[in-house]
Amino acid sequence: MIAAGQGRAQRARKPRLASVNPDPTSRAEAPSEIQAAKTAAENPKPSPNASAQPAPAVPAVKSKRRSYLSLVKPVRPRRDLVPQGEVSPRQIAWLAQYRHSEPVLVVDLELVEQAYVRMARALPAIRIYYAVKANPAPEIIRLLSRLGAYFDTASPIEIGQVMAQGVSPERISYGNTIKKQADIQHAFTLGVRDFAFDSEAELRKLAAAAPGARAHVRVLMDSAGAEWPLSRKFGCSYAMAEDLMLKAKAAGLDPAGICFHVGSQQTDLTRWPAAIADMAGLIRRLAERGIAVRVLNLGGGFPSRYRKDVPSIDAYAQAIHDAVKREFGDKAPQIVVEPGRAIVGDAGVVQSEVVLVSRKDATDDKRWVYLDIGKFSGLAETMDEAIKYRLRTDKDGGPLGAVCLAGPSCDSADILYEKADVQMPLDLAEGDKVLILSTGAYTTTYSSVGFNGFPPLKTVCI
Ligand SMILES: Cc1ncc(COP(=O)(O)O)c(C=O)c1O
Repeated sequence: MIAAGQGRAQRARKPRLASVNPDPTSRAEAPSEIQAAKTAAENPKPSPNASAQPAPAVPAVKSKRRSYLSLVKPVRPRRDLVPQGEVSPRQIAWLAQYRHSEPVLVVDLELVEQAYVRMARALPAIRIYYAVKANPAPEIIRLLSRLGAYFDTASPIEIGQVMAQGVSPERISYGNTIKKQADIQHAFTLGVRDFAFDSEAELRKLAAAAPGARAHVRVLMDSAGAEWPLSRKFGCSYAMAEDLMLKAKAAGLDPAGICFHVGSQQTDLTRWPAAIADMAGLIRRLAERGIAVRVLNLGGGFPSRYRKDVPSIDAYAQAIHDAVKREFGDKAPQIVVEPGRAIVGDAGVVQSEVVLVSRKDATDDKRWVYLDIGKFSGLAETMDEAIKYRLRTDKDGGPLGAVCLAGPSCDSADILYEKADVQMPLDLAEGDKVLILSTGAYTTTYSSVGFNGFPPLKTVCI
């Protein structure tokens, strides 16, 4: 397990995997919409070739514009199915019967539902676009579609993955600011109408390949406070954003929206209010120049629970709601969020296996523990030890010692944690299973197709 700062779950003695007994009394009563979605999800239409099937019904989109504030309702607190970031009894039961040795990601769809429904309740009237890049498993897309989600995609393949599950193109945005013109054209032909951009060159491609489409300019954000910052790669300055929106209009596009992203795994709640205030200024300036911005996209950044405890989604919602009210009164544009990590991160657990425990010298007190999963087989977010996963083994509860944790490949960059003070049981041995918690987001999608001959990370949705 990782030693420092793990909070409650780490201080308590961990149950042994094999002896964890699902406690039915600890399960929250499922809300009715979860129940309805579950019935739908448990009876999927057979789809050997989903894209060839007629599109299943998606929830109707309300066309009538309603004030953001008129829809804000108090959030009813609900008990968790399991504490945030914990392994569910269903995952434990599934892993108990798993007979293969290769690593596997097990996603509990009930936890995905819980995260989505909780966010939807906390952010009423805010449109949720699930960031498909976090985990594009068809079962997740199908479930979220039935719960009413929209989808943020980054490529024609992702658009195809979403549409293959029956999602109509009006519910899909193409949020990547770096697109080939042919890909824009492909998306436009399929019916996608919402595109992000952050440069004049991209704007020209949009105007040529997607005439009249809704263009959303992305503003550059400082990602301070984010554990997985998005650097300076995306977005442009406020001044340029203003100019680009005018140019979008002149080029025959619909300058509909403004978007930003405050960095992934963002635990500083002040980031959204500050950004919303700046965006309100930009929206006012654009209004003075004849452009009515109709959509404000607050991006993702909502967290999973890794080593540190994180604020609740209700706390994020409150910060956002207060800022929107303060900046726009009852004349807010349609607010959009694009969560990825917060919807699927805590719903997934990876089971891996210890391949080798060794030392570099007989006198070293730090062991090297090599797992059968590493940076190239799904755990890319351990780059610079940025995302610190919680670990669990069957031997937890006994004495611990410091380890360097590494992956199995022949690449020296494939070290997961060297500085992060990871402590694991002293009797940990080759063949022991290691659970890596909250790995539902940004794992399978980062897994290489076969670096060094290691197969891509397998996913199972239960
Ligand atoms: C455009 C865009 N939207 C949404 C997301 C999802 O962010 P998160 O997983 O932090 O919610 C990302 C992540 O990289 C992104 O680039």
